[in-house]
Amino acid sequence: MTVKRIADGVYYTGTVDWDRRTFDELVEIPRGTSYNSYLIRGSGASALIDTTEPSMAGELLKNLDSLGAEPDYIISQHAEQDHSGALPELIERYPDAEVLGTAPCLELLENLLDFRGDMRAIEDGEKLSLGDKTLEFRVTPWVHWPDTMVTYLEEEGILFSCDFFGSHLATSELMEERPGEILREARRYYAHIMMPFPQMVRSNLRKISDLDISIIAPSHGPLIMEPGMIMDAYSAWSSGGSGKTVILHVTMHGSTEIMVSRLTEALMEHDVSVRPLNVASADPGELLTELVDASFLVIASPTVLTGPHPKIAAALYLTGAMRPPIKYAAVIGSYGWGTRIESEVKGILSSLNLEYLDPVLVKGLPGDEDLEGLDELALKISELGGEYFGK
Ligand code: FEO
Repeated sequence: MTVKRIADGVYYTGTVDWDRRTFDELVEIPRGTSYNSYLIRGSGASALIDTTEPSMAGELLKNLDSLGAEPDYIISQHAEQDHSGALPELIERYPDAEVLGTAPCLELLENLLDFRGDMRAIEDGEKLSLGDKTLEFRVTPWVHWPDTMVTYLEEEGILFSCDFFGSHLATSELMEERPGEILREARRYYAHIMMPFPQMVRSNLRKISDLDISIIAPSHGPLIMEPGMIMDAYSAWSSGGSGKTVILHVTMHGSTEIMVSRLTEALMEHDVSVRPLNVASADPGELLTELVDASFLVIASPTVLTGPHPKIAAALYLTGAMRPPIKYAAVIGSYGWGTRIESEVKGILSSLNLEYLDPVLVKGLPGDEDLEGLDELALKISELGGEYFGK
């Protein structure tokens, strides 16, 4: 993207990665992404907020050249390479610039980038005067790493939030993207990046609640011109499940699929929000996005050797690591001659504090009694979910 003016003396200088399709070699990002940076030019000094991926350093430098920029400060809000990876190249070009970040961020810059430039740790709440513009730093750990902070431009009410409130969304329309599209991608982003830290999300929301924010300028995706929209969404996403049931399933010869269909229909008859997700075709990003507001998890798998199908096991490992808000789980599926699937599932999900409902495990094809067992499971979920469904 070319440089764009956001406000008087405030410029978007970011780089757009139109073709990137996975992040962390894990989740798909179907709409690409951007690595946003911003130049703030005051009457006395100028500051660059964040940089870009190392491979896009040249593009960032070109953007800064087009503005004739000579930043006095480079503010590193987060040491992860998608924001700070170009720092060494920038310091080669601007050797007198001082790098500011939290103490953990500066340590990570040394460790991750072997960066040894002129660095100074900021304090929580510290202000930096650029003359007629003032930046205030707020330390916001764990959105997404322990080093993260946000920066508030007082005169314009712009919050530079780094990963917080970001979205993987490449667009030429920095300010005009439809809010619904931002929210959809922001939810996928939240699931991948923020979901393991709901308490930190809430405490950081409180930490910025006194700021009069007109625009949120994240380090991925478009500007958010309606800050309340994304802050309300983050508040909801970090506050627990909505009562939804996610059924993770895979089938080998059709028996488990029959069970998934029956359970899905029974849940729908009880007006339970349900999302069956076939892990053989769903990407991890889709799985995590569905889990953001899930309260119930049903693991539907044939038994392979003694435990769950390996694709289910991989999905469960990710689920356990990302700590979604699920409270209840149940295991269903078909087996050939024996199974220890429930105990193996519990082992994989041991990091989560779950209450397990009675399993429905069937030898071979499910019969009428087995299917009635699934109806009972649906009823149980419906009853337990009463607090969510307003029953
Ligand atoms: Fe966008 Fe945690 O880096």
